[in-house]
Amino acid sequence: MKLSLLRIRSRTQPASVRIRPQRMGFEFDPAAVPRYWFGNDPVLTHFLNALSLSFPDGEQFFVDSVRHFRDTVTDAKRQQEISGFIGQEAMHSLEHKSFNAMLAAQGYDYVAQKGSAVARYLCNEGRKRFSPRSQLAITAGLEHITAILAHAILSRPEILEQMDPSVRMLWVWHAIEETEHKAVAFDLYKDIDPGYRMRVRAFLSGSLGLLFFSSAYTWRFLKQDGVHRQPLTLARGGLRLGKLLLSVLPDYLDYLRPGFHPWDDDNSALIARFKQQVEAAVAPQYRKAA
Ligand SMILES: [Fe+2]
Ligand SMILES: [Fe+2]
Repeated sequence: MKLSLLRIRSRTQPASVRIRPQRMGFEFDPAAVPRYWFGNDPVLTHFLNALSLSFPDGEQFFVDSVRHFRDTVTDAKRQQEISGFIGQEAMHSLEHKSFNAMLAAQGYDYVAQKGSAVARYLCNEGRKRFSPRSQLAITAGLEHITAILAHAILSRPEILEQMDPSVRMLWVWHAIEETEHKAVAFDLYKDIDPGYRMRVRAFLSGSLGLLFFSSAYTWRFLKQDGVHRQPLTLARGGLRLGKLLLSVLPDYLDYLRPGFHPWDDDNSALIARFKQQVEAAVAPQYRKAA
């Protein structure tokens, strides 16, 4: 695979990677963001819109599941990384809330409100039904999905070029931080349960939950636009989305490999490639003194 040329085999987090939260202070003007901001395509755009609806509560779930076990870690560096993970996910929740508010202001208020409520419900059900260990296993699995989507966004110029500049930096910044902290939940989970079965079972059930949510809400957005009655647009967009998802399938399946570790693929060079652009996009009130 061509992409694998960008990757170097590693087993631990590269020394250059620092997990530090950064509030960005993104402001999205509903009038300036094109309705179909990704590839001028309703299906592609609404798929990412649907994912964004799941982020504020989903990432809080990740944080809670990691926080539950953090006291089992005695290593000071790893404690720092866990703090970085918690801080980064908290920032993602906040910035995606701004993005979701922009969607609501564009007229998708009902879908956005419902989507957020369903995501919250699913996370609360997860907290009630699964043990803290299973919750952490689900988090580790879903973090793999965010990491491979992040890799696709950062490594394929054709994806970034299709995102409208008014929202592009949100996705670049989020993708960078998902790459930086991609092993934190996984390493913590492996401390608690080095076995294979629960890791994979939780990964598959988490994937199903995410697939259910993202398909249902992509469809709801499309329905509001009346695209569900436009078979050609639907087929064209569905094909483009299907192609994109199929292209990340080998990376997705890599999680099933016994002995898998997120840093087996060292793609940290991508972080360095975009870091300056992200720093330049930080709102003045959140810039840290050098
Ligand atoms: Fe995140
Ligand atoms: Fe994450």
